Amino acid sequence: MKILITGGAGFIGSHVVRLFVNSYPDYHIFNLDALTYAGNLENLSDIEHASNYTFIKGDITHADFIDSLFERYRFDHVIHLAAESHVDRSITDPMAFVNTNVFGTVHLLNAFKTHSMPFHDKVLFYHISTDEVYGSLGETGLFTETTPYDPNSPYSASKASSDHFVRAYGETYALPYIITNCSNNYGPNHFPEKLIPLFINNIVQEKPLPVYGDGKYTRDWLYVIDHARAIDTVFHKGVTGETYNIGGFNEWQNIDLVKLLCSLMDQKLGRPKGSAQQLITYIKDRPGHDRRYAIDATKINKQLGWSPSVNFEQGLAATIDWYLDNTEWLDRVTSGAYQEYYSKMYNT
Ligand code: NAD
Ligand code: TYD
Repeated sequence: MKILITGGAGFIGSHVVRLFVNSYPDYHIFNLDALTYAGNLENLSDIEHASNYTFIKGDITHADFIDSLFERYRFDHVIHLAAESHVDRSITDPMAFVNTNVFGTVHLLNAFKTHSMPFHDKVLFYHISTDEVYGSLGETGLFTETTPYDPNSPYSASKASSDHFVRAYGETYALPYIITNCSNNYGPNHFPEKLIPLFINNIVQEKPLPVYGDGKYTRDWLYVIDHARAIDTVFHKGVTGETYNIGGFNEWQNIDLVKLLCSLMDQKLGRPKGSAQQLITYIKDRPGHDRRYAIDATKINKQLGWSPSVNFEQGLAATIDWYLDNTEWLDRVTSGAYQEYYSKMYNT
């Protein structure tokens, strides 16, 4: 069985690739990744020589390349994670999100329809999406699989668009698909532009912790390894044509999360209690900032038997340990282009 995983050098993708390569020696895993600023093959150095693993450097926005790749390998299944994924970058450069998230997804769908569907009895295009497509919740309520799409950022609009294309190919061309919409992930190998890894890095370096607006925005956090486990479950047990929400029933206001992170970091670094909290700096809000996300994960819990394996305190402690043990990884990804981006974003 040949499985193409796109975006496998990124944060979530690298955990999915590792899980599949290690758990399923009979599957051959092809990891297609353009290695943008967010892609890092170092994330997969432990499995790079596995006999059931092949890395392919390539860009999903190049239609001819994608077509010839599928013609050559005729993948049985696709797990599609490659994307531009950071909301703040989508505000400054929306076209990169349209190109990769929308056009790139449609190129994959076309190649899958032409070169995979006619050649196998069983095929699946599994599209990985986000809860951000549902827009913003009020103080109560949860996103379910039937919540109408209402995206507010160029990132979430591009993901919503890609979800619609996948569904439309299912309806129009009988393309077998599954879509999952997951809440905010955190964990090892997360690029330090997102809230948790950025703040861990800044606390280590005693730099300001830039909290947007009043800090009372709410996100629902899931440990990345639990997301990878959910993708494994859905891939093997999910029903074609269905969508599943993935989340840990774990809502946190940003400021409460930041304070928890600060106190754990003080303990881990052996600094006096309250040191990290002094770094908290409220800054100008993100435009179009969604107030609250929260996932109802009942369907995947009940129908497929998946639930998270760690609670937030455990996951956060493991994440901090990973960053403190992997300072070289952090140094390498925070050099060069990322430094420039950081200065532009936060005027430092
Ligand atoms: P990431 O930014 O860490 O990784 C994205 C990967 O895609 C990188 O390795 C990058 O090199 C690759 N890529 C980007 N453009 C490409 C292109 N044109 N061609 C080929 N490869 C390309 O992202 P992530 O956080 O791992 O997210 C993975 C997927 O999961 C995305 O589709 C994202 O929308 C979705 N998702 C993320 C979260 C989250 O909290 N991070 C939550 C829910 C869903
Ligand atoms: P982020 O990690 O960018 O994920 P998303 O926007 O996809 O939810 O941000 C999580 C929350 O943290 C979001 O409400 C924005 C906020 N945030 C800050 O307050 N400061 C920051 O520097 C960043 C990156 C995020």
